[in-house]
Amino acid sequence: MKDRIKLAVIGLGQRGLCMLKNPIIPMKEEGIDVVAVCDPLEDRLDEAVKALLESGAEKPFATTNYKEVLSLKELDSVYIAVSWEAHVEVAVAAMKAGKYVGLEVGGAYSLDDCYKLIHTYEETGTEFMFMENCCYGKRELMMLNMVRQGFFGDVVHCNGAYCHDLRNEVTTGLENRHYRLRNYIYRNCENYPTHEIGPIAKILDINNGNRFLTLSSFASSSRGMHSYAVKTKGAEHPLSKINFAQGDVVTTVIQCAGGQTVRITLETGLPRAYSRGFEVHGTKAVYLEDNDSLFIDGNEEHEKNEWIWKPMWGNAENYEEQYNHPLWKNGVASDVHGGMDHVMMEAFLNAVKTNSHAPIDVYDAATYMSICVLSEESIAKGGAPVAFPDFTAGRWTERTDIAENKYTLDRINNGKDLYFVD
Ligand SMILES: NC(=O)c1ccc[n+]([C@@H]2O[C@H](COP(=O)([O-])OP(=O)(O)OC[C@H]3O[C@@H](n4cnc5c(N)ncnc54)[C@H](O)[C@@H]3O)[C@@H](O)[C@H]2O)c1
Repeated sequence: MKDRIKLAVIGLGQRGLCMLKNPIIPMKEEGIDVVAVCDPLEDRLDEAVKALLESGAEKPFATTNYKEVLSLKELDSVYIAVSWEAHVEVAVAAMKAGKYVGLEVGGAYSLDDCYKLIHTYEETGTEFMFMENCCYGKRELMMLNMVRQGFFGDVVHCNGAYCHDLRNEVTTGLENRHYRLRNYIYRNCENYPTHEIGPIAKILDINNGNRFLTLSSFASSSRGMHSYAVKTKGAEHPLSKINFAQGDVVTTVIQCAGGQTVRITLETGLPRAYSRGFEVHGTKAVYLEDNDSLFIDGNEEHEKNEWIWKPMWGNAENYEEQYNHPLWKNGVASDVHGGMDHVMMEAFLNAVKTNSHAPIDVYDAATYMSICVLSEESIAKGGAPVAFPDFTAGRWTERTDIAENKYTLDRINNGKDLYFVD
């Protein structure tokens, strides 16, 4: 195990800079030296260097060309927070250069891209983690813990969502040089599935005893971005004359080999409050994120309130003491994204320092990222079912290459999860 690691940050937009300016974990104390930063935009590069110097770190190597970063011999790992379109190119090059990859979330543009990640990983053996922070969310981990302990009985269905009013972010995309704008103009798909599908996939043992078989996606019309552009920029603004391709609400239903169904929703073009719409439906209980409640079969109080459930809203809190995941039991130091970023970053750094298999690996990444491509095809075909590739080539029936430490999200050790004894 290494005491210190040398890390580069590639992509210095909102996310990359946030990692440096508001360090999710205390870098120096945790043995992380950010030795290089990269972005094609010079002003962001300057901002990153300034932020690091102000934090007391040494001046990093700064470049607009990620290939120069990857040629640094001493580098252990790269954290990649680039625009969606550049994810696969940079991650593949980093694996080829032998640097442990931490790839930010986002979707794919082709199945070929997903396979590029898989094949490069298999050919190089360079480890890779998909940085899906929501897998380490407090409630997501609590529900994973409860599912594994049999609290829900057989889980037959899960819901998830990315409901986030992105009208301002998308329509200021030109000023902010943000990739979402062009994606919303040209694509119509479930474009950001991983925050909700990651935790659900772990609950359903996807790629480790189960797999996604098919999906069907449906997109509503696209009205929200246009009406917001007219409202905020005026009818004569060029953006107000654009027909956005991206539907305001995209609903996707996934069928699993184990018989379970999953519904995920993308709602980013309408006014609304944030929600990941997380739900776990089992034979013994149901969890509903939107009112943070658990309904438990046979619970007298719950059954008494079946028709007027409002008094029970928020009752999931009562189960925290018993069921909080061990990773959340002792509290977490940072409140970025409710602490889940902190736990995820710890998981990543632990994996890099020990050069071990990541808890959310390249097979998970390809599976989650492929949803964008498959949903695009399904929407274009009026909701027709589209088959998921099996990126594990059959190994999902008996996986051995999975992480085995306290950050593990998979069922391991013949179902006796290590984290219960940690
Ligand atoms: N996990 C989370 O909660 C979370 C939150 C926000 C963003 N993200 C993810 O982080 C990534 C970045 O998002 P953002 O909002 O910061 O976007 P952004 O547009 O603000 O930043 C992306 C940056 O990548 C740079 N870039 C593009 N191509 C590059 C290349 N080849 N080499 C180096 N840099 C390159 C761009 O110049 C830009 O500065 C996305 O994948 C996004 O999905 C994750």
